[in-house]
Amino acid sequence: MRHLMSPLDLSVEELDNLLDLANDIENNPHKYAHACDGRKLATCFYEPSTRTRLSFEAAMLNLGGSVLGFAGADSSSAAKGESVSDTMRVISCYADIAAIRHPKEGAALVASQKSQIPVINAGDGGHQHPTQTLTDLLTIRSLKGRLGDITIGLCGDLKFGRTVHSLINALIRYENVKFVLISPEELKVPEYIREDVLKKNKVPFEEVERLEQAMPQLDILYMTRVQKERFFNEEDYIRMKDFYILNRKKMELAKPDMLVLHPLPRVNEIAVDVDDDPRAAYFKQAQYGVYVRMALILTLLKWKGDDIKC
Ligand code: CP
Repeated sequence: MRHLMSPLDLSVEELDNLLDLANDIENNPHKYAHACDGRKLATCFYEPSTRTRLSFEAAMLNLGGSVLGFAGADSSSAAKGESVSDTMRVISCYADIAAIRHPKEGAALVASQKSQIPVINAGDGGHQHPTQTLTDLLTIRSLKGRLGDITIGLCGDLKFGRTVHSLINALIRYENVKFVLISPEELKVPEYIREDVLKKNKVPFEEVERLEQAMPQLDILYMTRVQKERFFNEEDYIRMKDFYILNRKKMELAKPDMLVLHPLPRVNEIAVDVDDDPRAAYFKQAQYGVYVRMALILTLLKWKGDDIKC
């Protein structure tokens, strides 16, 4: 039995297979409509979510399976003091696979240790968000045709933004990827990402504060929101929240084929006037999230092929 805690739990070959499967699902959805008949997905969300929870649920329903779960700690027995470990042990009796989101780093790992079913980390605090990374990789590969030979700008809250941490970890495995880390001083990537991931693996990167300075060289601009829920005081959040606003004017500085991605939800960091720009791919990205989660469910439930149910 396998869990997914980090994108690095999948080898590059496994990842390529998973993305191929996601593309096939996109092109031939009917082929997969009964692959999970009779199987159940539990979504255990201790933190708010729109895309991740609902795209997981849509993914399982698209595969013919069913879903159960909770959408907030207050509506589960966590409110009575039950541990994540006990909760997941019990959910193992009710479902075949589970996705968990929790505000504490490492909570998904703890949940997986006593689980009898595959557990997927759907976001643990400021740490990792591997299924967002799978979504990002599928989007980049589908729209750019490659995962190597790219210069990617990561902009905004690089300190608390778990999608950024997961994406850097995943992309360093591809050839000729350069990172431009665009953030204010207070929201720079954590030291372990800079030292243990980028420098240790001799991955080229630069850190800049001005978005305008970075724009002309980018193949992909990955915008992120300032993570209000992870700030210790409101004053700091208010000071930082509108530090970057991508608008139509700034898009004039970008390459004609630069992609704009964002894990969403957006707050103010992308003006709505960018939405009509053909380079804006963030809503398409959310759609890819369903295909890749379908592929992940099939992979973890060991789906064997066209006519065999998982
Ligand atoms: N991208 C993402 O994780 O969105 P939600 O918080 O809405 O799930």
